[in-house]
Amino acid sequence: MNNNLDRRRFLSRCGASLALFAAPGAFAEALLQTPRQTPGPFYPDHLPLDTDNDLIIINDNLKPAVGEITYLSGRILDASGNPIRDATVEIWQCDKNGAYLHSGSGNAEKRDPNFQGFGRFLTSSTGEYLFRTIKPVAYPGRAPHIHFAIKMKGRERWTTQCYIKGDPANPKDGIWKSVKDDAQRESITVDFAPLKSARAGELTAHFDLVMGFTPES
Ligand SMILES: [Fe+2]
Repeated sequence: MNNNLDRRRFLSRCGASLALFAAPGAFAEALLQTPRQTPGPFYPDHLPLDTDNDLIIINDNLKPAVGEITYLSGRILDASGNPIRDATVEIWQCDKNGAYLHSGSGNAEKRDPNFQGFGRFLTSSTGEYLFRTIKPVAYPGRAPHIHFAIKMKGRERWTTQCYIKGDPANPKDGIWKSVKDDAQRESITVDFAPLKSARAGELTAHFDLVMGFTPES
């Protein structure tokens, strides 16, 4: 008797969740795939000595990078919205003067020697990553952006770029505009907002990346 009752309850719960799944668009927002973007020509041709997730301080230097300090975090998710563990997240961006860690970069003579320019983070079971970096700046021909590369075992490198919500340079940027779908373009354009209780005006930005596949475990 009790067993039957439990079974009926279980089935009705399943029914409820199946109905939710079947509702058109119920998960559309959560599962919107992040568009891929070109890595561009400035992935570091010489990696820095320090490749950790703090781009503001190189090794044990005392002097920090110049720029608006930003805590950049998010999750790497598969096509079903599950967190992806053991993904290597790499970011690279130019410094406050528009110089990349690349021998072909413009403004190389003005490079900020205290900006790491590149960092790595390995996701845990939560799929989360975290970097401390600077708010990206524009350089000739480009709106401010941060490059991302995701590396997973058995897969080719997956790259995209992350932009600043509301930046007036976005609509003039050919690579940003190349994402024709509004929702997809919005998904790579994120708020750089003041971090609550920050004493030195630090910012926070959140960028989730949804892969178009489910990795084999
Ligand atoms: Fe770039």
